[in-house]
Amino acid sequence: MRHLMSPLDFSVEELDKLLNLANDIEANPEKYAHACAGKKIATLFYEPSTRTRLSFEAAMLNLGGSVLGFSSADSSSAAKGESVSDTIRVISCYADICAMRHPKEGAPLVASMKSRIPVINAGDGGHQHPTQTLTDLLTIRSLKGRLGNFTIGLCGDLKFGRTVHSLIQALIRYPNVNFVLISPEELRIPDNIRDDVLRKNNQNFKEVVRLEDAMPELDLLYMTRVQKERFFNEEDYVRMKDFYILDSEKLKLAKPDMQILHPLPRVNEISVEVDDDPRAAYFKQVQYGVYVRMALILTLLEVEVC
Ligand code: NCD
Repeated sequence: MRHLMSPLDFSVEELDKLLNLANDIEANPEKYAHACAGKKIATLFYEPSTRTRLSFEAAMLNLGGSVLGFSSADSSSAAKGESVSDTIRVISCYADICAMRHPKEGAPLVASMKSRIPVINAGDGGHQHPTQTLTDLLTIRSLKGRLGNFTIGLCGDLKFGRTVHSLIQALIRYPNVNFVLISPEELRIPDNIRDDVLRKNNQNFKEVVRLEDAMPELDLLYMTRVQKERFFNEEDYVRMKDFYILDSEKLKLAKPDMQILHPLPRVNEISVEVDDDPRAAYFKQVQYGVYVRMALILTLLEVEVC
């Protein structure tokens, strides 16, 4: 039985297979419409979510399966003091697979150790968000036609943004990826990612503060929101929250085929006028997220569709 805790749990070859499956699902959805009939996914969300939880649920429904779960810690037995280890033992009796989001780093890993069903990490604190990374990889590969040989700007809250941490770890396995890390001083990428992931693997990267300085060389721009819920005080958040606002004026500096990604939710960091720009890919990215989660569910449940 396999779980998904980090994007590195799959080899590059396995990832290719998964992304190919997602592309086939996109092209032939009817072929997969009953692939998981009789199967259930439990979505255990101890932290707020719209996209991730609903996209897991939509993915399972698209495969002909069913869904159950909870969407906040308050509405689960966690409010009574139950541990994730006990919760997962219980859920193992109800469902065939589960997706867990938790504010504590490592909680899904703890759950996976006691689980009788595959556990998918749907975001653990500021740590990892592997299914967002699968979504990002599928989006990049579909829109750019390749994984590798590009310059990607990662902009915003690089300190607390788990999607960025997972994406960097995944992308260093592809050839010739140049990283431009764009953040205010206070929200720079954590030391462990800079030293143990980027430097240790001899990756080409630079850190800059001004988005305008980086823009002209980017093939991809990955915007992120400032992670309000992980700040220790409101004042720091208020000071940081509007540090970057991507608007049409700044986009004039970008390549005509640069793609703009964002894991969403967006707050103020992308002005709504940008939504109409052909380079805005963040709503397409949401759709890719459903296909890739369908592919992931099939893979972890070892369901083959001929
Ligand atoms: C991201 C997350 O939860 O980390 N959202 C998502 O799952 N699409 C990004 C965010 O919350 O900023």
